[in-house]
Amino acid sequence: MPQPLKHSLYVKGTTEQQSKQDFVSGLRGFLLNDMAANMKECFESEVQPQMIRDQKKLETGEDVHDAIKSKNVFKFYSSMRYNAQEMVWRNALRAIHESKNELDSRINAIKNEQSASKLHLDPSLAIPKNVSSVDVHLAPGSYYREDGSANWVGGALYDHGLNIFSFGMMGSNLDDIGQSMAQYIRKKFPDFAPKTILDLGCTIGHNTCAWKITYPEAEVEGIDVAPACLRYGNARALDQGVDVNFKQMDASALSFENESVDVVFSSMFLHELSVKNIKRVLAEAYRVLRPGGLMLHMELPPNDSLEPYDAFYLDWDAYYNNEPFYKAFRDQDFTQLRIDAGFQKDKLIDFITPQYTYMDSETYTKAIKVDADIDENTGRLAEGIQWFGFGAWK
Ligand SMILES: C[S@@+](CC[C@H](N)C(=O)[O-])C[C@H]1O[C@@H](n2cnc3c(N)ncnc32)[C@H](O)[C@@H]1O
Repeated sequence: MPQPLKHSLYVKGTTEQQSKQDFVSGLRGFLLNDMAANMKECFESEVQPQMIRDQKKLETGEDVHDAIKSKNVFKFYSSMRYNAQEMVWRNALRAIHESKNELDSRINAIKNEQSASKLHLDPSLAIPKNVSSVDVHLAPGSYYREDGSANWVGGALYDHGLNIFSFGMMGSNLDDIGQSMAQYIRKKFPDFAPKTILDLGCTIGHNTCAWKITYPEAEVEGIDVAPACLRYGNARALDQGVDVNFKQMDASALSFENESVDVVFSSMFLHELSVKNIKRVLAEAYRVLRPGGLMLHMELPPNDSLEPYDAFYLDWDAYYNNEPFYKAFRDQDFTQLRIDAGFQKDKLIDFITPQYTYMDSETYTKAIKVDADIDENTGRLAEGIQWFGFGAWK
C-alpha cells in the first residue's frame, strides 16, 4: 500500500482518492507477486517443455518472450500491468490537481522560508529526446511536463506516482535504494570519507538525500535535466531539512571540473538512456572523479547474469511500458562498459544488497558480510527484492 510520505508536500487526498490509490497499489502487488508466479509456473510446466519437444532455442529472454506471448496468462498479466501503470499516474495526478493551490502555497512557503540558493536551473539547457519526446513508463508528460505556474507538478507526480507504483517496497520515504547503496559503501569501506557526492538523474532527490543522511559531512549534488522535478525535489529536501544542491545539468556533459568529485552515483538512471549516451555518461563519471573516488550505479541486472526466463521477465518494460532503452542497456556487457570508460578491471565492483530500511542496522551489517549472487529477486519489485549495484573505483 502507498505510505504517507514523510514530508509536508505529501498529498493525502480524499478518502475516495486514497481508496483508489490503495486499490491500484494492491493490484500492482498482486500482479507482481501472485500473477507473476502463475506466469512463471505456466512457463515451467507448459511453455518450456513444449519448446524442448519442438527443439526451439531457449537461450535468451527474447526466446522466452516469443514462446510465451500467445499464452493467456501472459496476455492477462500484460494487459493488467499496462492498465495498472496508467492508473498509477492517473490517480496520483488527480489527487495533486485537486490540492494544487494548497501545494503551491506550501512549496512557495518552503522556498521563502529557506534558501533558494540550493536550486540552480539552466533554461538554456537542451532537454535530451529521451526525456522530452517519450512519456517514460507511461507517465503523462514524463519528467519534463511543465504545468504553467504550477511548475513543480512533474516532480509531485513522480513522488506520488512512485509511492503508488511501489506498493510499499521502496521505503517509507521512497529512499530505500539510496539508503541501501550508501550504507553498503559506508559499512564495507569504513575508511572512505567522500567530500563531494554527485547523483546523476536524481529526479526529485529522494535517493540523493539518502547520501547526505549517510555522509552528513559531504557536499551532495543532485543533477537532472527536468526542471519541474528539480523544483519539487528542492522543496522536498528543504522541507525535510536535508542539505542537498539541485542543478539542472545533462549527465553526458557535466559542468564539474576534472577530478573534483568523490562519488558519482545514479539509481535507475542508465536504463533510460541510449547505449551511446550511457557511454558518454560513464566517460564523464570517470573524468570528474578524483583518484580514489567511486562510481556507483544502482540498476537492473544485466541480461547475461540471468536465466532466460528472468531476463524476459525484467525486459517486459521495454516492450510494454515505454522504456525504449531498457533492454538494449541490459544486453550490454557491464564490465566492458566500465573498462571502455577508463576504469581498470581490477577496480570494478558489483554487489547485491538487501533493503537497508526494512531491517535493523545490525541485521543489515551481517547480511552484507556474505557476498550474494544475482538471482531472480535481484531488481525485481516483489517480495524478497534485492538491489544490484555496479561501479568502479578510480
Ligand atoms: C528513472 S528516473 C531516475 C530516478 C531516480 N534516480 C531514482 O532514484 O528513483 C530518470 C531521471 O533521469 C533524468 N534524465 C534523463 N536523461 C538525463 C540526462 N541526460 N542527464 C540528466 N538527467 C537525465 C530524467 O529527467 C529522470 O528524472
